[in-house]
Amino acid sequence: MKKTIGILTGGGDCPGLNPVIRAVVRKGINLGYEIIGIKNGWKGLVENDTEKLDLLSVSGIIHRGGTILGTSRTNPYKNQGDIKKVIANYKKLNLHCLIATGGEDTLGVAAKLNKEGLNVVGVPKTIDNDLSATDFTFGFDTAVNIATECIDRLHTTAESHHRIIVVEVMGRHAGWIAAYSGIAGGADIILVPEIPIDTSEVVEIIKKRHGRGKTFSIVVVAEGAKLKKSDEILQEEELDSFGHVRLGGIGETLGKLIEEKTGYETRISVLGHIQRGGTPTAFDRVLGTRFGVKAIEMIDAGEFGCMVSLQRNKIVSVTIDSAIAKLKTLDMELYDIAKVFFG
Ligand code: F6P
Repeated sequence: MKKTIGILTGGGDCPGLNPVIRAVVRKGINLGYEIIGIKNGWKGLVENDTEKLDLLSVSGIIHRGGTILGTSRTNPYKNQGDIKKVIANYKKLNLHCLIATGGEDTLGVAAKLNKEGLNVVGVPKTIDNDLSATDFTFGFDTAVNIATECIDRLHTTAESHHRIIVVEVMGRHAGWIAAYSGIAGGADIILVPEIPIDTSEVVEIIKKRHGRGKTFSIVVVAEGAKLKKSDEILQEEELDSFGHVRLGGIGETLGKLIEEKTGYETRISVLGHIQRGGTPTAFDRVLGTRFGVKAIEMIDAGEFGCMVSLQRNKIVSVTIDSAIAKLKTLDMELYDIAKVFFG
């Protein structure tokens, strides 16, 4: 009898998820497994909402953004009844292993389930690139490319109108998207959650730049960045099921302060979910594909409780625990490079 492998995608969607699903199905079927897709993250395992995945189901999806399985931010550990259902449905589906594709929250649930005796393998996903034990997560490259294109476009309008434009990008509590897109897009200042914002320093940089004849400036700010001596700016006080707040709004606050203190006309552009939507870059398609193939190879070798990871351009296996133990914040050496171009 064929062994069955389940796969789910949890948390915020991200370009590159479909390449992972496709690779899991193709490699899994090659090795004689049956693959079942669990719908909408952990919610699908609570509700036993699944679909069999065959070659046809994953045909023509490598270039598609989002996830054909759907996703949710359901945390089954929030409710004892839900976790019991997850375990019961895992058994009912007769799963040999479950592939959990997600960020720290989804992988956190996977790690706990592994400790309860279920076979799981993790695949790291997030545009934020904030997972430890992997050099990159897929989705990040696409988000950076989109944000960079937006910064390019904002440059021409800022320059024509002689304005300051503050661009707010995603990334939660890590400044990876801001730093990469800011460097690539030639931003004049990049502000990240790792360093509290000193508004007088920002104003000074802008004034100095204008003093040498420039009539516009682009300021990239990460959604999780905070002003010195102030709290994080939140869009909503309400927490999601993993206890996270919704970030956003720092661009607006900062833009107003900059206009007030410099006297230069300022506009704010919040890129939001545009960074997460649409077709994945070639890098993310290839990374997702490599992760998916490796996940099946790990299952075939009986390596459970582990996660696929990219290290020095090789796909390796690490423990899920090592990936979620600590948030991977921005590399300060990279930020030092960004600072060379401030002003
Ligand atoms: O974690 C990915 C991410 O896009 C963050 O950068 C952002 O803060 C958050 O998800 C937005 O979440 P939601 O999809 O719930 O709006």
